[in-house]
Amino acid sequence: MTTLKDFSLIIVKNESLLDSIKDYFYENLLHNFEDDRLLDCKIENIDDTLKQVKTKYAVVIQEGIFFFDHIDANFLKTVMSDINDYSVIGHILDRKERYYQIHQQQFILNVDNWKKINCPNFNHTQSDELVVIKRSTGNFHDDYTPLWIEQTKDITKQNKLKFGGYVISEMLRHNFKIRPFNENERHVKKFVYYDIEEQIKHILTYEQLNSCSYYYPIATAQQTKKFTEQHKNYISVANGIESLKRISKTYKDIETITFYDISITALIFTELLIKNFSADYKKFVQQFDAIGGQQWTMLDGSDQDYEKLNNYDVSEVLPILEHIRNNNVRINYCIGDITRPSIIENVKEDTLINLSNVFNYNFNLVRKTEYIDWCNRVANSSHKFEVLR
Ligand SMILES: C[S@@+](CC[C@H](N)C(=O)[O-])C[C@H]1O[C@@H](n2cnc3c(N)ncnc32)[C@H](O)[C@@H]1O
Repeated sequence: MTTLKDFSLIIVKNESLLDSIKDYFYENLLHNFEDDRLLDCKIENIDDTLKQVKTKYAVVIQEGIFFFDHIDANFLKTVMSDINDYSVIGHILDRKERYYQIHQQQFILNVDNWKKINCPNFNHTQSDELVVIKRSTGNFHDDYTPLWIEQTKDITKQNKLKFGGYVISEMLRHNFKIRPFNENERHVKKFVYYDIEEQIKHILTYEQLNSCSYYYPIATAQQTKKFTEQHKNYISVANGIESLKRISKTYKDIETITFYDISITALIFTELLIKNFSADYKKFVQQFDAIGGQQWTMLDGSDQDYEKLNNYDVSEVLPILEHIRNNNVRINYCIGDITRPSIIENVKEDTLINLSNVFNYNFNLVRKTEYIDWCNRVANSSHKFEVLR
């Protein structure tokens, strides 16, 4: 009988994923795979990685896929009901004149069967002996997502095969069956894809996004506080322009910045600001809102509110952005509560912390009384801290 112990998990890198979304992906991925059943690789190395797998099955996923629940305890448990009948289960795409493809976002492979037929190459692009495939007339969506596929006795050729095309053909040729993920399996996960706009659009409409996922394109209250100490390490909530304004006197000394925020929208906005912003802040915000930010903005959405952005002075952050970009300042974008004691305990050097008003913030579960404990940790640390609220 197949059990969860018969599976290994392989995580394929997604080189174009925003750092903030990558962090969110790893924090969201819930599983119970022990280290010896957990591998990662670049897509070019998928064959070699699969050859190292010691279990009968491998679940391959790519960074940027979000499961509503545990990938093993929930997702795999349901897939397991007919796992013995199939050697590949995945998103099987009919690429018409370019044959068929297994989408790399996720598939399940019977590794034993794949090894039995000499490990056909997933990245193979050319073959003169491909099985002609018979497919359902219906689709899950569009015209390239068949409900089922089967082999025929005919042969075709192709010199521009997409990922997995050759594996599909070889598996079918050896009488191993393949099926696409069914309707239920498709609806308990979401992939954000590759293009930046697509990633943002998908993640900001993710059904499981937590309800604190707001972002502040403009401060709700006039902030004038600035750090004055020259420390190399800066920790802050991801409050975009305001987080940067606070280091306007000290940024030249900063080598590492770590943003912790309970809002993925705030982290993404801050990442885009740091990587891409150059001029016209109102346009920058409107573009972000157009690709998904709007439902999470703390602006009221009226033209008048957007007009406020024209008078919001962001000139102060331009030299900071230039400095960050030209001096390889290391930036980490982390989903999570900035008030956790481990953040203070793990600091290894003198540090600036922009706490903002998190201890008085409506949308989180921090208890106000914890502020005293937090201050004691800062005071008792062996490193110096400058804290702004
Ligand atoms: C506290 S809000 C305040 C914004 C401020 N009132 C302003 O006018 O700019 C700033 C950021 O802190 C984040 N935040 C709130 N509580 C947090 C917590 N416990 N840990 C990490 N981030 C938090 C919010 O998601 C938001 O992005």
